Amino acid sequence: MELTERCEHSTEVKTPLSEIRSREWLDYFTRNIQHLLDVPWHLGRELSDEDVDAISASVQGFQLGESSEGKHLVRCAKMHSETTCDPDYYDAIKLFIREEQRHACDLARFLDLNGIPTVKAAWPDSVFRFLRRGAGLELSIAVLVTAEIIAEVYYPALQAATNSVVLKAVCDQIIQDETPHVQFQCERLAILRSRRSWLGGFMTYAAQRFLFFGTCFVVWMKHGPVFRRAGQGFRTFWKTAWEDYHVAESIMRRTPN
Ligand SMILES: [Fe+2]
Ligand SMILES: [Fe+2]
Repeated sequence: MELTERCEHSTEVKTPLSEIRSREWLDYFTRNIQHLLDVPWHLGRELSDEDVDAISASVQGFQLGESSEGKHLVRCAKMHSETTCDPDYYDAIKLFIREEQRHACDLARFLDLNGIPTVKAAWPDSVFRFLRRGAGLELSIAVLVTAEIIAEVYYPALQAATNSVVLKAVCDQIIQDETPHVQFQCERLAILRSRRSWLGGFMTYAAQRFLFFGTCFVVWMKHGPVFRRAGQGFRTFWKTAWEDYHVAESIMRRTPN
């Protein structure tokens, strides 16, 4: 990236923490590609008709959500990298999106293996894409991280809801990837929000919680059957989701130093 030459720091200037973290995340995503778990695709079709009825619409919805090309996020990240002279962040975001697309590809392959088509549109996904589209980097990440936290809750439930060895393996890989995703996005929010006033911070986290609150209801409405099949009622889902949210918010609130 041409930014690299233009943004060389003087050796006397301390490298900002945000740049150090960008480099570390870029290294992480680069390494992660080399250490993917095996998925026993050769097992072929495993789902019973009952399984198909119970989980197919839900997996179709998440497959669609994972498949975003993230063009708007990439554009915002590029602008952020240019203004902060942090080219590694832009490269890390591109690798992050590639991971999400890998999740989408694996879920699509699983659906195909079981004779279930992928879908092109679903209203929760359209709402999330709409919210991200007009936003700057911070709002874009704030919306995205809401879906990432939900993914941390959903994939373990999906894994518990199925006997498919293939789907369990696909979930293993996604679960392994999603926790670092949440950390990556929350850290950047902490950097972007670090100079906010007390009132600004209060309003920001009230809005972030409101978005998560609404998302939890939508997720339960659309994917409740998967959670119930995994032995989770609404209260367990709600409790787990908010526990994960609070961990994420604590990272967002961490002062970068
Ligand atoms: Fe994902
Ligand atoms: Fe993710």
